[in-house]
Amino acid sequence: MKKKKILFAATLLSAGIFACACNTNKTAVKKINYDYLVLVNKYSKLPDDWEKNIELVDVKNAWDEDIKVEKEAYENYKKLKQELKKEGVNIELDSVYRSVKEQQELWDEWSKDPEKGIEYVKKYVATPGYSEHHTGLAIDICLKKDGKLVYENDDMISDRKTFAKIHKKLSKYGFILRYLENKDDITGYAYEPWHLRYVGSKNVAKEIMNKNITLEEYLGSIKDINNNKEAAKYQIEKTLQKYFEDIYKDKIINSRFNVTKIYTHEEIKKNETIKSLKIGKKDVAFEVTYQLQPTDESDINELMIPNGEYDQELGWVININRLGILKYNEKKGIYSIKNFGTGW
Ligand code: DAL
Ligand code: ZN
Repeated sequence: MKKKKILFAATLLSAGIFACACNTNKTAVKKINYDYLVLVNKYSKLPDDWEKNIELVDVKNAWDEDIKVEKEAYENYKKLKQELKKEGVNIELDSVYRSVKEQQELWDEWSKDPEKGIEYVKKYVATPGYSEHHTGLAIDICLKKDGKLVYENDDMISDRKTFAKIHKKLSKYGFILRYLENKDDITGYAYEPWHLRYVGSKNVAKEIMNKNITLEEYLGSIKDINNNKEAAKYQIEKTLQKYFEDIYKDKIINSRFNVTKIYTHEEIKKNETIKSLKIGKKDVAFEVTYQLQPTDESDINELMIPNGEYDQELGWVININRLGILKYNEKKGIYSIKNFGTGW
């Protein structure tokens, strides 16, 4: 079916209020889900309303037991498994999603196990409520070798050759290795070659894996976003999402963003208009293409400002381009959107 689009005479309503980024390209806009970068560790509890944000699917593990895993993470796991199989490495699912109750059961069982005990448990098992397994994004794998399952922690740790092959492929499918060797002081846990974490972005996963850093280090580094394009994009999209939820309240169901340009400080210096906005060292000037899904058709015109089109088939306002600034508040340590499409 041919797409019907209503072009909007933006100038009539928005003259003098908004300016577009003057970029009419139709870049595909990806859907962002910031939950994939959620930090759950010894000090950060699982967010209270977490279950509302994720979609779990029912699957079977290596022992044919019913388990659950987050949908997108599972799709990518299947691709990873397939690719590894071609290289002669067979991975299987062990433990994936665990409720707080199940984590408690694991904690109790292993602490009473004479071969493990409390010290071992502290090294390898998170306190209930503080386990990444509650997110559905953490996947413990085991190996299948010569028809037999290899699942004991010590056996897997000693199989360095097989796990090196596995770890090499992780980022291609959006996974990272969460508990790195010799990083216990940061992660709080010992090396776990089997514990994969889905982060929802191949680029983020690549950056983390290539630098051999933990999720804690990555999330810490994105505070200095001017030195990290991927982090800047993440911060812009995340802040914009909040911004739109705030200004449009119940007028939109959803929003999607694609950051098309981030200005370097050299470029800002050469651009008189942006320079006049007094961009601080930690601020970021950017261009973005975005889409909004209206709650009600009566809001479409307002959402199309300054230069959008309404795609009736999709039910989204698309191709809106703007320039904006992400302003850093030194005192609060947070970013907010400033001068979004105004004054340019
Ligand atoms: N094995 C990891 C630390 C957990 O229990 O969540
Ligand atoms: Zn695990």
